[in-house]
Amino acid sequence: MTIVELVQMFAEPLDVAVVVTDIDLERPGPTVLYANPAFARMSGYAVTEMLGSSPRLLQGPGTNRELTRMLARRLQAEGRFHGVLENYRKSGEAYLCEIDVRPILNREGGPAAFIAFEREVVRRRGRPSQSTAGRYRPLDPTTTACPVPLSAAGGVFT
Ligand SMILES: Cc1cc2nc3c(=O)[nH]c(=O)nc-3n(C[C@H](O)[C@H](O)[C@H](O)COP(=O)(O)O)c2cc1C
Repeated sequence: MTIVELVQMFAEPLDVAVVVTDIDLERPGPTVLYANPAFARMSGYAVTEMLGSSPRLLQGPGTNRELTRMLARRLQAEGRFHGVLENYRKSGEAYLCEIDVRPILNREGGPAAFIAFEREVVRRRGRPSQSTAGRYRPLDPTTTACPVPLSAAGGVFT
């Protein structure tokens, strides 16, 4: 069974958006190998449109390039990125997106692919909270896949 087949088995019915890419972070990579139906619903792109392209498809005029560069640096150095980025739907509408990227390891312990769990979030009103829910909350409360607390605005958390 391939990684994509395995991920597909658990990710297909999930409410949280899941995307799998190869590990080539150099432009034009990484290449999308799999995206689940929740990803298509959130982004407005059909799964077939995502396959073979790069998640940069989701970037737009307001994308924080410093943060997306940091995402790639973090993945190269630590194999992990967790933060909030501004993504763009196919319609051009911007949305805040909590993104948790991790490697899927091969038998030798090296990265075989990257998998991201993504969900739309909204900024909480008022002062930043000290609670583990942090400054953002999910738009859809059923998508509670990310166990790591969010505690800072627009940045990297873990
Ligand atoms: C699994 C995975 C999911 C990603 N999802 C997003 C995303 O939703 N939005 C985004 O702006 N970048 C996302 N990226 C990052 C971009 O693909 C790219 O790595 C980033 O823009 C840094 O490269 P660049 O500086 O050459 O643009 C993702 C990367 C990976 C590996």
